[in-house]
Amino acid sequence: MSGRTQGPGGATVAVLSLKGGVGKTTLTLGLAGAAWAAGQPVVVVDLDPQANATYALDPHPFDFTVHDVLWDGRPGIAAQAFTASAWGAGVRILAAEPALIDRGQRTLGAISRLRVALEGAVPPGTLVVIDCPPTLGELTRNALQAASTALIVAEASRFGVDAAIRAVSAVEQARESTNPGLHVAGVVVNRVRAGQRQRWLAELTAALPGRVVPFTIPDVAAVADLQEARLPVQAWPAHDSHELTGAFEELYRAVTGG
Ligand SMILES: Nc1ncnc2c1ncn2[C@@H]1O[C@H](COP(=O)(O)OP(=O)(O)OP(=O)(O)O)[C@@H](O)[C@H]1O
Ligand SMILES: [Mg+2]
Repeated sequence: MSGRTQGPGGATVAVLSLKGGVGKTTLTLGLAGAAWAAGQPVVVVDLDPQANATYALDPHPFDFTVHDVLWDGRPGIAAQAFTASAWGAGVRILAAEPALIDRGQRTLGAISRLRVALEGAVPPGTLVVIDCPPTLGELTRNALQAASTALIVAEASRFGVDAAIRAVSAVEQARESTNPGLHVAGVVVNRVRAGQRQRWLAELTAALPGRVVPFTIPDVAAVADLQEARLPVQAWPAHDSHELTGAFEELYRAVTGG
């Protein structure tokens, strides 16, 4: 079994943007939470040395991180580093650590190390979600090589549109050069306030025809609290979280084809 296909319902989704702070980690956790709510096993691969997704998933004590896995590079070795999270038995994490920054700067020798490390490590029917760092370095290239699907996160702003265009071309380049099976799930606009909704969707759709998903992710104050509380939004009772839960369900269906 390849690291890219995990049978029915399985997909390996790289969540990326070439801009910092636009919501990659939030959407990674939102997708993991939607899978958790749907009863689908999920593995979150935290490829960001900032380790924000690792923090939010509150893993049990672990011996190996994604840094060790990339260093080792043996086929299927990732299975030894999957760690249970506090979200429940179905949600596991391949944790990040600050040393991962070295893996992003030096050459890894190959951009296929993550794909090889995941080969045979992921049970059929599992959703794998890869939280990328905000640059197009070795780590993000490894994610694009391991992924079956790329999800691009865009910010609702002028610079957000420019960054999304660059991200789409990086994904196309990965598909044309090294991963012909890579599917673009689309560009999703995050942190949209009610009055802004149509404006940024229209701008992006005009710039990237056929690439932008037809819904947006709302700006909801509860996001920061639930990341701090280390809970899935789907388990959060705040009155403003329902809109977010609905948007993540839609996103989950878009990336899993459900
Ligand atoms: N939909 C949202 N509503 C409200 N706040 C949000 C939303 N999405 C993200 N945020 C907040 O914006 C900040 C950045 O989000 P996040 O960490 O997900 O971005 P990122 O792209 O992963 O950042 P980085 O590039 O540093 O990894 C966080 O404080 C997060 O709580
Ligand atoms: Mg992040």
